[in-house]
Amino acid sequence: MNLSTTYLGLPLKNPFVVGASPFCDNLSVCQSLAEAGAAAIVMHSFFAEQIEAETRAPFASWEQRSRPEGEGADALPEYHDYHLNPEHYLRQLKHLKRLVDIPIIASLNGTRLGGWVDHAQRMEDAGAAAIELNLYQLAADPAVPGDEIEADMLQVVRTVAASVTLPVAVKLSPFHSSLPHFAARLSENGAAGITVFNRLHQSDIDLVKMEKVTHLRLSEPSDLLLRLRWLSILSPDFPGSLACSGGVHHAADAAKALLVGADVVQVVSVVLKHGPARLAEMIAGLEAWMGSAGYDKLSEFRGRMSHRRSSDAGSAERADYIRVLQTWKV
Ligand SMILES: Cc1cc2nc3c(=O)[nH]c(=O)nc-3n(C[C@H](O)[C@H](O)[C@H](O)COP(=O)(O)O)c2cc1C
Repeated sequence: MNLSTTYLGLPLKNPFVVGASPFCDNLSVCQSLAEAGAAAIVMHSFFAEQIEAETRAPFASWEQRSRPEGEGADALPEYHDYHLNPEHYLRQLKHLKRLVDIPIIASLNGTRLGGWVDHAQRMEDAGAAAIELNLYQLAADPAVPGDEIEADMLQVVRTVAASVTLPVAVKLSPFHSSLPHFAARLSENGAAGITVFNRLHQSDIDLVKMEKVTHLRLSEPSDLLLRLRWLSILSPDFPGSLACSGGVHHAADAAKALLVGADVVQVVSVVLKHGPARLAEMIAGLEAWMGSAGYDKLSEFRGRMSHRRSSDAGSAERADYIRVLQTWKV
């Protein structure tokens, strides 16, 4: 069975990539992931705020007195709270590269241009095979229009992509008013691929303490459905690579993501819950499904369930929406 695929120009032995997560902090777990069959590992993000925290670190005591006021400013982690400081991150990347013979993808996370962008070059020098650029942000300022936010994002992508020879993927949120158009603009501005999607962190409210509470919630398989919809719409036209991130918990989920046009699936929650052995099970499960469906190669079925090129995907999805609402009888 041939599971090989190409992602961001990198030839991979199978489509299972360990997504951005704390796995990269632990070398022996990474070795187990590689032994279980991971085709590549994405390191957790290096945040723009880390560079700013590093710059502030020598002035920490002064900074305590002079930190800007307001929500958010106080809430940022201190320099020592980040898992890996900038030097550590690059050192860990080098260790990982030496330890396993699969591509290590570095992750850079920021929203507006700043000194952090130079870090892409340092990641390339340290041996990253690619960079995943995470543009996580919440557009909460009523004074800022959406096109301005997207223009800023494109500028970041253009600048990062121009600063390295590596392929750069962009990890996106699903909340863009015209995602296929924005994806095309990302490609024009240097993105070699997109990761569909970020899972936006959401706080809850503790009604007893009357406080906002923030828990890390792992994904559910139902998170996959949003990804399947958008991959199926994006894949016929998007010229670069597509990674599915969110809700891939079983081999069947991976098969579905590939059928709607993903080049790879990224897995995090399921491996955090069940360990690297689950990754090996998923790879074997995908092979078993391919055998039962009569496929020898991944390339024979990838994209078979995407919306057809130039089809009116929006109208088809709306028709589905109207039809499904009629199925509930009272
Ligand atoms: C503990 C944890 C840490 C994560 N850290 C990052 C990160 O640093 N950067 C990033 O882009 N995504 C990060 N993610 C998001 C994952 O890469 C992934 O997009 C998300 O968990 C959905 O995939 P899943 O359903 O396989 O978990 C993290 C997720 C978890 C659970």
